[in-house]
Amino acid sequence: MLGVLFAAPLGAANGDDTTIERGEYLVRAANCVSCHTAPGGAVFAGGVPFPTDFGTIYSTNITPDESTGIGKWTFEQFEAAMRRGVRPDGQHLYPAFPYTNFAKIDDADMRALYDYFMSVRPVNAPARKNEMQFPFSQRRLMGVWKALFFNEERFKPDPARPEAWNRGAYLVEAFAHCGACHSPRNLLGAEKTGDGKPYTGGVLDELDDERGPVRRGAPNLTSSPHGIGAWSEEDLAHYLKYGANTRARVMGTMNEVILNSTRHLTEDDTRAIAMYIKSLPASADTGGRPSSKVMALGEKQYDIHCGTCHLPTGLGSDDTGPPLAGSAFAQAPEPASLIDLVINGPRLPVVGPSEQWQRPWQSMTPFGQKLSDEEAAALLSYVRNSWGNAAPEVKPSDIDRMRW
Ligand code: HEC
Ligand code: HEC
Ligand code: HEC
Repeated sequence: MLGVLFAAPLGAANGDDTTIERGEYLVRAANCVSCHTAPGGAVFAGGVPFPTDFGTIYSTNITPDESTGIGKWTFEQFEAAMRRGVRPDGQHLYPAFPYTNFAKIDDADMRALYDYFMSVRPVNAPARKNEMQFPFSQRRLMGVWKALFFNEERFKPDPARPEAWNRGAYLVEAFAHCGACHSPRNLLGAEKTGDGKPYTGGVLDELDDERGPVRRGAPNLTSSPHGIGAWSEEDLAHYLKYGANTRARVMGTMNEVILNSTRHLTEDDTRAIAMYIKSLPASADTGGRPSSKVMALGEKQYDIHCGTCHLPTGLGSDDTGPPLAGSAFAQAPEPASLIDLVINGPRLPVVGPSEQWQRPWQSMTPFGQKLSDEEAAALLSYVRNSWGNAAPEVKPSDIDRMRW
């Protein structure tokens, strides 16, 4: 995903109808804008590339333009795409479009989304042709995929849980699709659903203008000590609303999630999301411990390069940097985002989401020039397996792949 828009307003809806206003709020919650707006392109006009293991898919024009967008679609046709991943011509859509989540949206909210999109400014922008490898270029095959992995059920509240929890669960599962990035996927690209799998961390590729596909590692969001166990509900709510807390600051892929989506939600809603996420059962797959030789080399590099800000204890401090002990980011099962941060420096947003985003600390600089592949791999394996942290070892070849 690429369509990072920092602070751009959505296409102003004509009319002040309350359904349309509600629709816009839900569009924020679902982050339609990040996926359907290409850099420099018109809002919702599509053309954002999604590199997958099976080829590249482009998002489509969802403005109400009659010839290139969804202007001629009836509510029923819109609903079929959103809930069942089927186009008006009967073809299946690829699940890079998260209809697996949107299927859970209730009827009134689906109607509000439709009314909203029919009210935005139409833009003429023809779709880009997908570049999928055979046999995945055959949309028919997605019928088989759906039969295996797709559950069309609406969201069902859990009467045993508080109302706020149910609101959070609905927002996350039907709209915000945190699991699309934070859950591991199987070989056919479906989110794993087995016990202890959802939200334990995922992998995705983003297409970068200069670098091509760049791998990202989404951390474990369960309350395991190797996930966000160290974060309170308030920490998470604050991060989603204001882009920072005492343990982390928004960067990388979360820029588009927080800037384009969660910061626009009410405090009650970001708190509800945090309540739901913090209730996920703790689970983590940490791999074996690195050898003592790797740990010793890593510790030495850590003391030279990182200890001044993150401290030898890994606890960080208010004015130098966040803790690495208990950091979900550092322990993400796939280390790609961690490697990118350390080798190439932080990808902080150009515009901060809020004043509270400011921190009294000095940001990190790139360490790519200062560390060989062996040193960087040992250093990160050390960070991932010290102070109670545990995560799969980083190999020198993983580092090399993130240099450019
Ligand atoms: C994670 C990225 C992502 C998000 C979020 C997303 N979409 Fe999409 N959407 C896509 C992609 C990719 C496609 C193209 C799928 C294909 O060609 O099979 C698509 C296709 C569609 C289509 C089918 C259009 C057509 O012409 O076939 C509709 C309608 C649509 N999206 C609406 C929405 C709405 C409404 C939202 C927000 C509620 C949304 N999308 C959020 C990625 C996304
Ligand atoms: C488009 C993919 C994507 C989506 C959707 C997404 N995340 Fe993330 N998230 C990531 C990635 C990747 C990272 C690692 C950051 C990076 O790439 O620099 C991350 C990091 C995080 C972190 C750790 C931050 C830190 O610095 O320690 C938290 C917490 C988080 N996400 C919560 C959420 C929640 C809650 C949602 C849903 C509201 C969500 N994310 C949706 C991809 C995503
Ligand atoms: C100049 C002080 C400084 C140095 C030196 C430094 N960092 Fe950081 N680090 C930070 C700050 C500040 C952040 C928060 C992001 C930001 O604001 O740039 C951060 C964030 C991080 C994070 C993300 C934590 C999370 O949970 O979101 C990791 C992991 C990390 N640093 C690892 C390292 C490693 C490994 C080294 C040594 C190679 C290092 N840092 C050197 C200041 C520093």
